[in-house]
Amino acid sequence: MATAEVTSPDAALVVESANKVFPRGKGGDLQVLQDVSLTVAKGEVVTIVGPSGCGKSTLLTACAGLTKLTSGRILVHGKEVRRPGPERSVVFQHASLLPWRSVRGNIAYGMEMQRSASKGERKERVDWALELVGLENFADSYPNQLSGGMQQRVNLGRALATRPEVLLMDEPFGALDAMTKTRLQLEVSKISSETKATIIFVTHDIEEAVLLGDRVVVMSARPGRISRIFDVATPRPRGDDFAESETFVSLRREIRLCIYAPDDQRDPAGMGLVGSG
Ligand SMILES: Nc1ncnc2c1ncn2[C@@H]1O[C@H](COP(=O)(O)OP(=O)(O)OP(=O)(O)O)[C@@H](O)[C@H]1O
Ligand SMILES: [Mg+2]
Repeated sequence: MATAEVTSPDAALVVESANKVFPRGKGGDLQVLQDVSLTVAKGEVVTIVGPSGCGKSTLLTACAGLTKLTSGRILVHGKEVRRPGPERSVVFQHASLLPWRSVRGNIAYGMEMQRSASKGERKERVDWALELVGLENFADSYPNQLSGGMQQRVNLGRALATRPEVLLMDEPFGALDAMTKTRLQLEVSKISSETKATIIFVTHDIEEAVLLGDRVVVMSARPGRISRIFDVATPRPRGDDFAESETFVSLRREIRLCIYAPDDQRDPAGMGLVGSG
């Protein structure tokens, strides 16, 4: 069932036999990732779902260079990840904004840290990001004057403004209201088409995973392994029609089964397999 990945010269990100063990002293070591291999093509959106605690965030932070693997390696455009780098941006579930900076200042912050754009270009990119996340009218507000959802939009804007080649997102919309979430999901889809950014998107929400992903990676309970990878062939961005389509409904059902029901409890007559991997 585990999917062997093929290394490709077009790969933006390659995870090779990743293992992660957290030592816990007397409690015994905790194996969190077990032999995880995954190749993500340039411009591809890969969504990752799996039970709580299976190692999704650990995998993502390892891709970001914030967590060291116990064994195995991660390559971004052929170069081994050892630390965070400007070609990768991370968006976590909770916004981490600088309270003394305005929305505009927070969005510019990532570029300033990277020294990645001229002053004029930074302003242009901030304006672009402000519009994208719908905060044009709050550019001069401060984080404590924003709702939680708006703060997360600033967080996303900051990551996008750096124009990352690889965008790593860990349940970025988990705390947002349904309307904002839907809008930002669509934007993420558009952004990936426009900027050709490669996106790895971790979520608890199976529907979100199917809506956004070119492929949906399902991880097993800890130690996290890749149980199966589903292809979602419908072109992005996908709208309301897709969410009501038979393809969407059957993928959702298959992925749910893959996460919650072991193979031997399945009803093969009732549930045809959808996708591949
Ligand atoms: N720094 C750490 N030290 C020790 N154990 C850790 C550390 N970080 C994560 N873990 C453990 O690793 C396991 C996987 O955690 P991780 O955050 O990757 O899961 P997850 O799949 O993202 O879960 P969730 O869906 O709840 O966010 C958990 O059991 C957690 O307790
Ligand atoms: Mg997590």
